[in-house]
Amino acid sequence: MATNPVPRFPDGFLWGVSTSAHQIEGAADEREPSVWDVFTSEPGRVKDGSTAAVACDHYHRYREDVALLADLGVGAYRFSVSWPRVNSPGGLGFYDRLVDELCAAGVRPVPTLFHWDLPAGLDWLERDTASRFAQYVSVVADRLGDRVGKWITLNEPAEHTLLGHALGTHAPGRELLFDALPVAHHQLLAHGLAVRALRAAGATDIGIANSHAPTWPASDEPADREAAEFYDVLLNRLFSDPLLLGRYPDGVGELMPDDADADLPVIAEPLDWYGVNYYAPARVGAPQGTESESGGVTLPAALPFSVRAIEGRPVTDFGWPVVPEGLTELLTGLGDRYGDRLPPVVVTENGCSYEGLDDQDRIAYLDGHVRAVHRALEAGVDVRGYFVWSLLDNFEWAEGYARRFGLVHVDFATRERTPKASYRWYRDLVRGRR
Ligand code: FCB
Repeated sequence: MATNPVPRFPDGFLWGVSTSAHQIEGAADEREPSVWDVFTSEPGRVKDGSTAAVACDHYHRYREDVALLADLGVGAYRFSVSWPRVNSPGGLGFYDRLVDELCAAGVRPVPTLFHWDLPAGLDWLERDTASRFAQYVSVVADRLGDRVGKWITLNEPAEHTLLGHALGTHAPGRELLFDALPVAHHQLLAHGLAVRALRAAGATDIGIANSHAPTWPASDEPADREAAEFYDVLLNRLFSDPLLLGRYPDGVGELMPDDADADLPVIAEPLDWYGVNYYAPARVGAPQGTESESGGVTLPAALPFSVRAIEGRPVTDFGWPVVPEGLTELLTGLGDRYGDRLPPVVVTENGCSYEGLDDQDRIAYLDGHVRAVHRALEAGVDVRGYFVWSLLDNFEWAEGYARRFGLVHVDFATRERTPKASYRWYRDLVRGRR
């Protein structure tokens, strides 16, 4: 276990934890279905055959969970609002109560407005879904905006495009490969329209949570460098360039719908801050004529790149390499690339899956990554906050309940919550005892 004190962070630095609706709420029978309910009802989609019908039952136990947040001492709690629940009778009332409970506990609510659980009747291949999203965002903002200051539009549109629509390992389970790219554009458009809807409702602190993986070429060979560059464009810059520079990177604009460029001014609506989710870098090389494996996902041989193992590093239970300096590289890289177009940055997700209550591996992971954030601050990047994924063990998408990312253990038979060693470690950090 790390014993050196974590360096001091600036006053006002926001410490938090993150969750998402589909992964923790349960109470699926008290809302209309999402694409994830449909997906998990199909045999073979989730590795352990589970669904999120009950999950952590947070919907009924949110008071207990807010008490855990209060005891942890975090300044903010990032959760997501379920669009299908808001569409259902009484659904908004749940978020009303949750926000009240958080405010009473002195924890700032930070809702994400879309974390992959699209209402089952909607489809991101349809452009109209973007306007529907903005309408739903207005409804949520009108109801919660008097108590919510900080908003997140979308979670990881890159992963939702790649896993949900290109490779089919997430809901809605499509395998469209490059024909999935309109899904990226429509989510980005939805983001921009949502920013406008939030501003119209008076919001002043708006961000997005984008996944980013620093991309390392497998070698100096031109073919590997070119493949890595393409991967970086597809998974990182395809999302950050239009948001922060108002243009698609060279080479992908032509794969987008015909009218895409006309939407760029909407997509590039100014943001108050930019959220990054970081887990590990990606090492990428030229295609090898065979499938490759990335973070538990199989990539088809037909792709113009292959993902390679990062050797010589500890790995989490998920098999993800532990590379804290990748987070410094990511944050300083964003600063270098976007300069004064980059608003203040918040790390909106960072964490790891490990078993056990005495989770020293998680403590080491978090300790390393918190120090990596500090190094980025020292290098001049304006980082304003850090959120651990996740408060609770939860339904980890296609992995079901087999991956435990929580600071708090959940017994999925009894729903009993038990704080882990990492919870106490983070509490000490947050409360300034480290
Ligand atoms: C991110 C997701 C989050 C969680 C973590 C482990 O990609 O945003 O919901 O599954 O990975």
